[in-house]
Amino acid sequence: RLALAQSGPLAGKHIVITAGGTQEPIDPVRVITNRSSGKQGYAVARAALDAGAAVTLITAPTSLVPPLGCRVVPVKTAAEMQAAVLTETAQADALVMAAAVADFRLAEASSEKIKKEKTVPQIHLERTADILADVAARRAQSGYPLRVVGFAAESQDLLQNAQSKLTRKRLDLIVANDITAPDAGFEVETNRVTLVFADGRTETLPLQQKAEVARRIVDALVEWS
Ligand code: CTP
Ligand code: CA
Repeated sequence: RLALAQSGPLAGKHIVITAGGTQEPIDPVRVITNRSSGKQGYAVARAALDAGAAVTLITAPTSLVPPLGCRVVPVKTAAEMQAAVLTETAQADALVMAAAVADFRLAEASSEKIKKEKTVPQIHLERTADILADVAARRAQSGYPLRVVGFAAESQDLLQNAQSKLTRKRLDLIVANDITAPDAGFEVETNRVTLVFADGRTETLPLQQKAEVARRIVDALVEWS
């Protein structure tokens, strides 16, 4: 599909989308991960394809089938996702960072499976890189006009936390996601979000399907194109 001429409001645009929860190994069989089904990110990929964009989906492991027509870059760890994002956004028009990226990884993962009879492991964690902050820093340095959309899944002070992430990560838009409601956030088909734009506009969407939320995010990409 990337090779085909597309029609639609995003024809000729290249959108990079990340989805799923990255996995940080503890040993060859165990990982630390984040709750994320990938549904919202995959829905954004589908909506961007429907709008005629060329779509690259950088995906951590999920149980979903990627939408037909996007270029899929599978990754596991936050470091792999970071490398893929930096490569794939070098010539893209927008990045939508829907992935739940691990904030911490093991300082040293075990190369052999840890046997439970022998020991209860003490896990020493270190910070991972902030992918969005890196992208923003590179953009500031190069002047390359990449639009950047982030997500903020919050359990408290939703708008204040989202607003501070918008500023700190120098985003164009942050999708603030209330994860306390049972009909929003992880795994379910619906979502409750407020869009917070860099220009100060906010837009609270009603409870709706993740596909609808995705279409509204893609509308923002269209407004910028
Ligand atoms: N993100 C990222 N790199 C990370 C962590 C997060 O690019 N290492 C992105 C996420 O994909 C999301 C946005 O940053 O689009 C906000 O993620 P979130 O976890 O809400 O914010 P953090 O900055 O990690 O802060 P905290 O988890 O402490 O709330
Ligand atoms: Ca985080």
